[in-house]
Order: sequence, then C-alpha cells, then structure tokens
Amino acid sequence: MAGANPFRPGFGVSPRVLAGRDELLEEFDTALDEGPGSPLRSVLVSGARGMGKTVILNELEEAARTRGWLVIRLPETGDLLEELASTLLPRLLAEHDSERSVRRRVTGAGVAGVGSVTTTAQERYPVRESASTLLERLLDVLAGHGTGVLFTLDELQAVDRDAVAAFASLYQHLVRDERDVALAAAGLPVGVDQLLQHSGTTFLRRAERVQLTALNASDVTEAARLTIEDAGGSISREGLDVLVEVVHGYPYLLQLAGYRAWREAADSPITEAHVRRTTPLLSERMGRLVHEPALREVPQAQRSYLAAMAQDDGASSTGAVAARLGLTAQHANVFRTRLIQRELIAPAGHGLVDFALPYLREHLRRQAAD
Ligand SMILES: Nc1ncnc2c1ncn2[C@@H]1O[C@H](COP(=O)(O)OP(=O)(O)OP(=O)(O)O)[C@@H](O)[C@H]1O
Ligand SMILES: [Mg+2]
Repeated sequence: MAGANPFRPGFGVSPRVLAGRDELLEEFDTALDEGPGSPLRSVLVSGARGMGKTVILNELEEAARTRGWLVIRLPETGDLLEELASTLLPRLLAEHDSERSVRRRVTGAGVAGVGSVTTTAQERYPVRESASTLLERLLDVLAGHGTGVLFTLDELQAVDRDAVAAFASLYQHLVRDERDVALAAAGLPVGVDQLLQHSGTTFLRRAERVQLTALNASDVTEAARLTIEDAGGSISREGLDVLVEVVHGYPYLLQLAGYRAWREAADSPITEAHVRRTTPLLSERMGRLVHEPALREVPQAQRSYLAAMAQDDGASSTGAVAARLGLTAQHANVFRTRLIQRELIAPAGHGLVDFALPYLREHLRRQAAD
C-alpha cells in the first residue's frame, strides 16, 4: 500500500474515522437544538486512559461549531475565572462583537476602518470586567444569531477543585437564566468521583454522566476497514477478525494495531498474519503508556489484589483471590470494590472478577517476573 499510514496512535489525536460513539453525539446535537434546559447540554464523560475522552470532547466541540456555537476550552491549570476574564472572553468579544459594530457602521455611516473597530471593542471591554459580565455580553451577541457557548474541560481529575467550584457557580447561574450555554467535561473515573464529592461541584453531579466503554466488534471492524480503504489500502476478512480480537474494543489499540499492521503489510493487502504480529507491541505499549501510570496511583494493597488475580488465565474467583492474599472475604471485598471503581477490573458473573483493560494481566505477569 503506497499511501501514508492513516492510523493515529497517539493520545489526544483524533482518528481519521471515529468508531462508535454516535449515540452520544446524536444526543448532544439534539440537546443543542432543543434549547436551554435540555439535560444533555451538560455532559460529564469518564473513562479509562486511552478510551477516547479527549477525542469525544473534540467531536462535541465540532458539533457545536457546526451549529455556529463558540467553543471555550477551559484551561486545566490556574484560575479559570481569571483566565476567562483577562484573556479568553475579551478576545472572543473583540472578535464577535466587533463584527456586529462593523456591520452597523458600514450600513449606517458607510465608512469604517477595520483597524479602528478592534480598538473600539477593546476600549469597550476593558480587561477588568468580571468573567460573568463579559460572558453575559457575549451570550447577548450570540443570541442574535441563535447560538451560544460550549465550555469544554479536559483532564477534570487534575483540575483545581476551587477553580471548578468558582466556574460552577457562574455556569449554574447561566443555566438558571436559560442562557444558551453547554458544558462538556472529561476525566478519569476515580478523579471525577472525587471531584464530585466536593461541595462546590454539586451542579456537575446533575450533568449527564457518560461512561465511555469499550467499542463493540462491529464498530471496530467498520472503523478499521474504512480507515484502511479511504487511504487506498485493503484488509482481508480474517485480518479484520483478528484485529477485533487483539484490539479488545479499546480505541487506542485500534489505532496502534492498525498503524502497525499497515506498516507490516508494506505495499500488499493486510492479512491475518500482519495483524497477529502486532500483539507484542500492543502489550508492551499498553503496559508502558496505560497500565504503568494507572498503577502508580493504586495503593499497594489493591495492587496485591491485582497481582493475585493475574495468576489466573481468565476470570478470577473472588474467594480464590482472597485465599491467595490470606484475607477474609469481607476484607478482600473492599479492595475489589475500589478496583472496580477505578475501572481496572470488572465483575464477570457471580463471584468472579476479570481485568477490565486489555493486556493488564500480561503487564502484571511481566512485573511479577522482574
Ligand atoms: N471513537 C474512536 N474511534 C477510533 N479511534 C479512537 C476513538 N476514540 C479515541 N481513539 C483513538 O484512541 C487514542 C486515545 O484517544 P484519547 O486521547 O481521546 O484518549 P483519552 O481517553 O483522552 O486518554 P487519556 O486518559 O490519556 O487522556 C487516540 O489515538 C485516538 O485517535
Ligand atoms: Mg485525554
């Protein structure tokens, strides 16, 4: 295959072809159309590393822009309100409010220097006005076009709680006033849960909670096939089946396996063998980029629980794991619950648990062997 590799195995990089997720995107589109008060205008996305949170935020931003909405990406560090008041909002107002004054002046007086318009907007919105005043003004301007503002906030687990709380009260106010605002935030599951316990962030608890889960087999098949064919390549039916198998519905692996298989195949169609050859790389990369950082935040006792599970080739009996650790069932259950909250493991039928992330078992076994 002569074309450039179409897969994008990097964090925060949008794929050429988006797999699945259409339901969420459709619902968000509807929410924007429905007007203020639609519950899906505030979305809180959580999911494991590499599950596609940043990509989803990008898609939601795109959906809003398509409707003529403005998108404000809230900074992940520092004082949100200060940033809004001093930089983000004055810039947007200068851009959008001046358009209106240009039109008014051109149609009214017939002459207007573009340079002077910018100055006018800056004079009219001196830096020290509050975020809330500036935002109200911006929303007034946008209301004239029937659009609004979407705020997005990524890496929610790492954002300063007081900053979120301060922004929360501003946002809540606008929602109550039925202004055209929307919010999409995303973060790792445990961090998001902790943030929600903070009293200033109650409003986020009312946001529509979306848990990004693994993609299903047909979504992976379809996205992989389209990505390859759109770039002028091809893949066999068996190749696609093996791809589904090694990817385990995990978006990052879809990109990585596709990328690698494309390279393996060089100028020929991608076969089953090409895809199979990607697995050592998938396992190694997942270990290094996803499992290792995730495990660093996990307390030792819970890590021991994972290590005990890794002795099994498939789902583990909770009783057997407790016995291996020399713990009472009740005590082991505490660790099990915590690990489920972290989305590292998942219930797998009565009395059974299994790893929730692909290649985690292999990673733990490699660690145990070292
Ligand atoms: N729906 C999807 N279809 C195809 N590929 C996807 C999809 N979602 C994400 N990806 C790919 O998966 C990888 C990880 O995506 P992303 O960076 O959005 O994950 P994340 O959940 O934000 O990870 P982190 O927790 O590290 O921030 C990227 O290579 C991206 O292209
Ligand atoms: Mg991300």
